[in-house]
Amino acid sequence: MAAPAPRKILVTSALPYANGSLHLGHLLEQVQTDIWVRFQKSRGHHCLYICADDAHGTAIMLTAEKLGISPEQQIENVQQEHIRDSAGFLIGFDNFHTTHSQENRVWSETIYQRLKDNGHIASRAITQAFDPEKQLFLADRFIKGTCPRCKTADQYGDNCEACGATYSPTDLIDPVSAISGATPIEKESIHFFFKLPEFEGMLKQWLASDTLQPQVANKLREWTEAGLQEWDISRDAPYFGFEIPGEPGKYFYVWLDAPIGYIASFQNYCDRTGHPFDEYWQPGGDTELYHFIGKDIINFHGLFWPAMLQSAGLRAPSAIYAHGFLTVNGTKMSKSRGTFIKASTYLEHLDAQYLRYYFAAKLSGSVDDIDLNLEDFVQRVNSDVVGKVVNIASRCAGFLRNSYDNTLSATCAEQALVESFIASGDAIAALYEEREFNKAIREIIALADRANQYIDEKKPWALAKQEGAEQEVHDVCSVGINLFRVLMTYLKPVLPAMAEKSEAYLQCSLDWTALQAPLVAHALDTFQPLLTRVDPKQVEAMVEASRETPTVAAPPAAKAKASKAKPAPGVATAATIEFDDFAKIDLRIAEIVAADHVEGADKLLRLTLNLGEGADQKQVFAGIKSAYQPEDLVGKLTVMVANLAPRKMRFGVSEGMVLAAGPGDSELFLLEPHAGARPGMQVK
Ligand code: MSP
Ligand code: ZN
Repeated sequence: MAAPAPRKILVTSALPYANGSLHLGHLLEQVQTDIWVRFQKSRGHHCLYICADDAHGTAIMLTAEKLGISPEQQIENVQQEHIRDSAGFLIGFDNFHTTHSQENRVWSETIYQRLKDNGHIASRAITQAFDPEKQLFLADRFIKGTCPRCKTADQYGDNCEACGATYSPTDLIDPVSAISGATPIEKESIHFFFKLPEFEGMLKQWLASDTLQPQVANKLREWTEAGLQEWDISRDAPYFGFEIPGEPGKYFYVWLDAPIGYIASFQNYCDRTGHPFDEYWQPGGDTELYHFIGKDIINFHGLFWPAMLQSAGLRAPSAIYAHGFLTVNGTKMSKSRGTFIKASTYLEHLDAQYLRYYFAAKLSGSVDDIDLNLEDFVQRVNSDVVGKVVNIASRCAGFLRNSYDNTLSATCAEQALVESFIASGDAIAALYEEREFNKAIREIIALADRANQYIDEKKPWALAKQEGAEQEVHDVCSVGINLFRVLMTYLKPVLPAMAEKSEAYLQCSLDWTALQAPLVAHALDTFQPLLTRVDPKQVEAMVEASRETPTVAAPPAAKAKASKAKPAPGVATAATIEFDDFAKIDLRIAEIVAADHVEGADKLLRLTLNLGEGADQKQVFAGIKSAYQPEDLVGKLTVMVANLAPRKMRFGVSEGMVLAAGPGDSELFLLEPHAGARPGMQVK
């Protein structure tokens, strides 16, 4: 039977914002996509994995400003970091570009022009909140104030975290700009809109076409049924993005040019490699296009994007694959809870393949959330990968090396068994194809159990002691290695580095297409350890290192709103404590004798504190980097909690806390005593 022609597949994952580090949530998506792409390649298809940084928008502009660098410098730094972290997780991008590129500018302008020529762009004046101090229009999430319903202070934008109310930001009581603290005013300006309602018929067809996951199609149908709205695709200066041709001071909204970044990154790849471009983006070809995304961005990919593509005369995606969100130990990843694990922090402590395996073991084709339970993680990886899969090879390799010239038997003693493993490949492949990775892993581990059972029954270690059983030992171990080879072929998309080591040992490629018959009379190379067990201590260390925040004494509930406009009324206070509890806290005047940047820490400064004559100096890591230059702190007096138990942090031991007021980040004010106070004095 002739092999079917290889498919030509283009795959993307969502473009991460160039505004911060990758975290394990981003990696869930990239690992899912990467496994799928590696699987397709292993099956002999032509598959390309394209991504980029999403470099535009107000948030990136503000971050750069805060850091005192240009937005271009900011996105360049972040791109380097993203590339490094993804590579650390063995994500095999064929191209990783940026949306702030010439290719993307050209494509955004071209597509916009086509939409405009087709009459799909409208313009009209709208009224929006405007920060008179910063001279900038405020998106909902940059406005905060008191919830009109439950009166909780400091709620962002258009919904209340405390009571769940949704409202317009203009309904907030005492609204302030989250950027400057100024009271927003209303201001009018011209915006451009994409006329989405004109695509209602096309979108209804697309939603009915079965290309989308049922949960995704349902969600999107809710939107279409509520009535499609025109989509605001422009933003006013100052904005970091592409200026709209012929419209000075107006920029493409970041979400207009972000998905176009898929095309632009692919264009960049094609220009670099000579790969054909058009057949992937013209309608009616035989290529396939898949977007892997999180469930939070399905409206952009499931409504706006197909409509834009249609108007621009470009092909529709073959499918959109949405996944759920990552939680850690059952809760939403959150910085304040300390479950927000950065990709780089993970990699400092643990092998990427552990997490790739764990994600694979949990991922399905649905949009359900995925929980990283850290205990289960250790247990699962150690028991399945190390205890079962690696174990098969390590049980057999020693005998083959020591007594059989590191060469497999001339005939396969268990042809049927090895062939049954190979025959399972089609069912496993079908599961990978459907992104039912958890089911694929279950099948593979069931096979690993059978392989181990076979070795347990044959007991080569006992046979090796028997006279005349040399051939049998050779045969059993050769079968074991053959079974291992089949399993590693199936696991290669998930565990690429371990597969590479196995390929070196087995002296053969572990691709699906190479799996036809058992290896016989085949010479092996030196066996090297494939993967070590997860050390739970490393997991603990990673969690400790992610808990970077509590350096300021104020509990969250007592955080004052240090808005410049006016202090928020009725600031919540912490629970009452007894005097004895207060008396336990040893507050001291401390002199800051040195303040240093901490390499790799976003928020921390290392303070060296003098607590008066005769007392040891203390080291404290304080989250005040955004608020102070270290050189401005040296020589200042402040207040320190001197009897706090030392805490081991990622960068060293912190031996106390200094006191500061304010909501955090750049708005933090160290407490300083009046003149005359001296280091070591007790605060009472
Ligand atoms: N820049 C946009 C995407 C533009 S695509 C044309 C964006 N960026 S993001 O950095 O916020 O997210 C990138 C991807 O990571 C999205 O698909 C998002 O759903 C996913 N995730 C972000 N946090 C996540 C979790 N906690 N869990 C799983 N995926 C998460 O959105
Ligand atoms: Zn509320």
